[in-house]
Amino acid sequence: MSNTILVGAQWGDEGKGKIIDVLTENADVVVRTQGGNNAGHTVFIGPQKYVLHLIPSGILRRSKSCVIGSGVVIDPVSLVAEIDGLLKLKVQVAENLFISETAHLVFPYHRELDEQRELLKGEHKIGTTKRGIGPAYGDKAARTGLRMIDLINPARFEAQLKLKIRENNEVLKAFGAKQISFKQVHAAYRVAGDRLKPFVTNTVVFLDKAMRRGADILFEGAQGTFLDIDHGTYPFVTSSNTTAGGACTGSGVPPNRMDRVVGVMKAYTTRVGEGPLLTESAEIADLLHAMGREFGATTGRARRCGWFDSVATRHATMVNGIDELAVTNLDGLDTLEPIKVCIGYRLGQARLDYVPNDVETLLKCQPIYAEFPGWRTPTDRVREWKKLPPKARAYLKAIAELTDAKLTIASVGPARDQTIFL
Ligand code: GDP
Ligand code: IMO
Ligand code: MG
Repeated sequence: MSNTILVGAQWGDEGKGKIIDVLTENADVVVRTQGGNNAGHTVFIGPQKYVLHLIPSGILRRSKSCVIGSGVVIDPVSLVAEIDGLLKLKVQVAENLFISETAHLVFPYHRELDEQRELLKGEHKIGTTKRGIGPAYGDKAARTGLRMIDLINPARFEAQLKLKIRENNEVLKAFGAKQISFKQVHAAYRVAGDRLKPFVTNTVVFLDKAMRRGADILFEGAQGTFLDIDHGTYPFVTSSNTTAGGACTGSGVPPNRMDRVVGVMKAYTTRVGEGPLLTESAEIADLLHAMGREFGATTGRARRCGWFDSVATRHATMVNGIDELAVTNLDGLDTLEPIKVCIGYRLGQARLDYVPNDVETLLKCQPIYAEFPGWRTPTDRVREWKKLPPKARAYLKAIAELTDAKLTIASVGPARDQTIFL
């Protein structure tokens, strides 16, 4: 039995879906513990592309169980659409999916509020995915949210939803936004509730039983370390704990049952949405976008791109307790010469080796770069560590050392087999 937490060590989209899919081969259960359908996890199996939003990427391997834990916020209509999309692609979604009865629900008024708050912020907007994530977690913290357990209790759900829509329509009126129809939302959510009911259960008890049987469990992080509500570049963050601790609170599996933390990071840096990105570089963005890469899996937005920031990833090791590293998208750097890596932040006369909490201070920092020679050879067909170009190996070793964790996986393409184990 072994429990592994997998987290994004940067700003999300590190390739968590691909690495989870690879690791699931040797696991029994895969659990999502935070976030909602703001996440977009891409997995390729042969030519077929799958993008998972709420369902763990483990669903793509038959006979594995998948859990959506209590820490996730669920838009039930969108979850049903995701299930239907998978069924159409002949992916099994039946007795292998378990949804926590205490997971909170996302409603259309959350999405509308998300949008209105962004409009009000104007140029200071966060650049959210507009999936209603912030307002839904807001309701959870305010103890005014509705949960899966309410959705599958029709009488209770109707009464609670009436009150929530009345309240939120007052708020939306103040924003000058369109009103939400109780009738429409109720009808759509009841249909979704009936579809989801067979999957809804006490997932804490399910996971405890799985551990007693000796199951291997993977915890699939969503977003990334610097989007964490506590430890990210607030307010340019999401509304959940994306760091390793979130796997415990969002699943009910206690900290002393966790065995290792795997951090996933790209060989460079990307970020979608607003907020500081010290190593942002037009050179690397233009290169990757011209290859058709680095467009968001959820919103299709072009991701901002930059050099690898080892101050950030070392900070991620500190916050998450990362034991092992999976570095993805090494092949994205195949043509670059030289390759820069940020090894420190200069703030006036001071040199920082951690990420300051105040975004204004962070924006005043200048990256200090080290340069590495490029290998200028395609790596996407390499399957063994010793067959990688020596300069690529040196680069990977260096960024792992700077991140202060052990490199165990290098990924050279989106496919399952484009994975090198060390
Ligand atoms: P996630 O949110 O962390 O699961 O990552 P996304 O799926 O949003 O974005 C990662 C993108 O990189 C996806 O398009 C993956 O198919 C792709 N990807 C993952 N690993 C590699 C890799 O090693 N090389 C290349 N070229 N693409 C990769
Ligand atoms: P995965 O799991 C990258 C970003 C948004 C925005 C901020 C807040 O695929 O790595 P939200 O809608 O959560 O309120 O938006 O967080 N964001 C992500 N960026 N990958 C994600 O998920 C993200 N989920 C949210 O772009 O900057
Ligand atoms: Mg993604």
